[in-house]
Amino acid sequence: MSTPPRHVFVAGGTSGINLGIARAFARNGDRVSVVSRSAENVAAAVATLDGSPGPWGGTVDVRDPDAVQAVLAAAAAANGPIDVLISGAAGNFPAPVLGISPNGFNAVVGIDLVGTFHVFRFAWEHLRRPGASLIAISAPQAWIPMAYQAHVCAAKAGVDQLVRTLAIEWGPAGVRVNSLVPGPIDETEGMRRLMPDDTKKAGLARAVPLQRLGTVDDCAAVAMFLASDAARYVTGAVIPVDGGWSLRGAPLEA
Ligand code: NAP
Ligand code: COA
Repeated sequence: MSTPPRHVFVAGGTSGINLGIARAFARNGDRVSVVSRSAENVAAAVATLDGSPGPWGGTVDVRDPDAVQAVLAAAAAANGPIDVLISGAAGNFPAPVLGISPNGFNAVVGIDLVGTFHVFRFAWEHLRRPGASLIAISAPQAWIPMAYQAHVCAAKAGVDQLVRTLAIEWGPAGVRVNSLVPGPIDETEGMRRLMPDDTKKAGLARAVPLQRLGTVDDCAAVAMFLASDAARYVTGAVIPVDGGWSLRGAPLEA
């Protein structure tokens, strides 16, 4: 396990939880690369990576394997071998199964699951080996069935199994692979899409055993732990960061 400045690559790292994680590593003095589809989002995110000696940004749609290979190579050329790799790009819209078209299902599974496969698969040649820590950003839908979330449930279940499989395959090379599972995280796009109503949001907070919604910093703290030497014997783990919300079946209403 190397010490800062490490190269931390965050796919989907230009907003919300993933940007919060990227900014925490930047404050820690790490070299941080963030990538997503929109050049505007990338430029804005890179400008917030205060404290990083090597803030870098690139555009990519994680559904495109060639583009993923190219952006990983460019990031490694700029910031060196990847010490910490975070796959957090995701898409979500609430809809019943009969309201999801094949293209809509493919969009979410393509970004969340296939995109994570592309990012992890093509990072291999750029990973610091031994020593790299890979983190997928999953969701409680991976093991808790949720109405209007069939695409996300299917995609994130696949993400967690991909994580466990890679932990077995890549452990001998000294590469750890874990899944960080945010619960309801306040002031994020995910929450705005699933819980647009503020009154319902207050009820949701009461359904969390720790009695509050999460923050992006709650997630960043666990990402920092998983990337650190303190987690050197942790791999293949699926770690909820949800105040205990998923213990009650992650109800969207209290
Ligand atoms: P968000 O702000 O919408 O972040 C999504 C990021 O992914 C953005 O940077 C977006 O940038 C990028 N992205 C989307 N599609 C992409 C694609 N095809 N290729 C490359 N990048 C793409 O979301 P969030 O709510 O913070 O969620 C972040 C992660 O946490 C997700 O993995 C989500 O499933 C998980 N999560 C969130 C919550 C929550 O409460 N919010 C709960 C459980 C799990 P561009 O638009 O520029 O591409
Ligand atoms: N209900 C039903 N179907 C929907 C929908 C909704 N609210 N929103 C999009 N779709 C469908 C579209 O109609 C389309 O299907 P069609 O071609 O059969 O009509 C399909 O999903 C793809 O939509 P499109 O807008 O072309 O996809 P995209 O690749 O540009 O965007 C999304 C992907 C749909 C996931 C988009 O919401 C997105 O970019 N999300 C990123 C941010 C996000 O979701 N953050 C929360 C993370 S938890």
